[in-house]
Amino acid sequence: MKGIFITVEGVEGCGKSTQILLLKAYLESRGREVIVTREPGGTAIAETIRSILLDPENAALSPMAEAFLYAAARAQHVDERIRPALEAGKVVLSDRFADSTTAYQGAGRQLPEETIQSLHSMATRGTWPHLTIVVDVPAEEGLKRAGHVNPPDRIEMEPIEFHRGVREAFLQIAQNDPARVHVVDGTRSVEAVAAAVRDLVEPLLGDL
Ligand code: TMP
Repeated sequence: MKGIFITVEGVEGCGKSTQILLLKAYLESRGREVIVTREPGGTAIAETIRSILLDPENAALSPMAEAFLYAAARAQHVDERIRPALEAGKVVLSDRFADSTTAYQGAGRQLPEETIQSLHSMATRGTWPHLTIVVDVPAEEGLKRAGHVNPPDRIEMEPIEFHRGVREAFLQIAQNDPARVHVVDGTRSVEAVAAAVRDLVEPLLGDL
């Protein structure tokens, strides 16, 4: 049995973390071994990098340094956690992955496309999702939901235009790569979104 790599993406507060937990339970009911992880993070070293990235005190972090830190966290995550789990035949569910760099550092911070592509190839070295689900909600709605849970981190503090650009970028990524990236409407009930997510995952299980 070979591993399956699924990533879930979207703007802040889109509901992806809830969906990942529901999907994990579903996959386990189908007899799969599942690990749930997140970016930036997923290993002790990458979680340390995460705390630098999200600390509102680090307002001076430059766009390029920010992009390198996300890529560094990803390289560690891929090497230490994702690749070994896939090699062991597990399903890896990651709350964000490389598409977040394309959306936030590419569209949001306006770093050049070639820079983003180079970072992806260095950080992932070919470990790439089989399926990516974008849970789509308007940026305003997501930020409102996220704001109910925690005080804003360094990225959430960006103006609404930044988050609108990120949302558009995720939709564009899905258009550019329709075989891998699928959009689900995240404004519906949790159960309706979960059913749409299961429908996308089902064909991957059938292949095995
Ligand atoms: P989270 O709040 O969904 O856990 O994500 C952490 C924040 O980091 C979120 O604001 C999105 C941002 N981010 C990037 O800007 N680039 C990336 O590559 C990743 C993985 C996350």
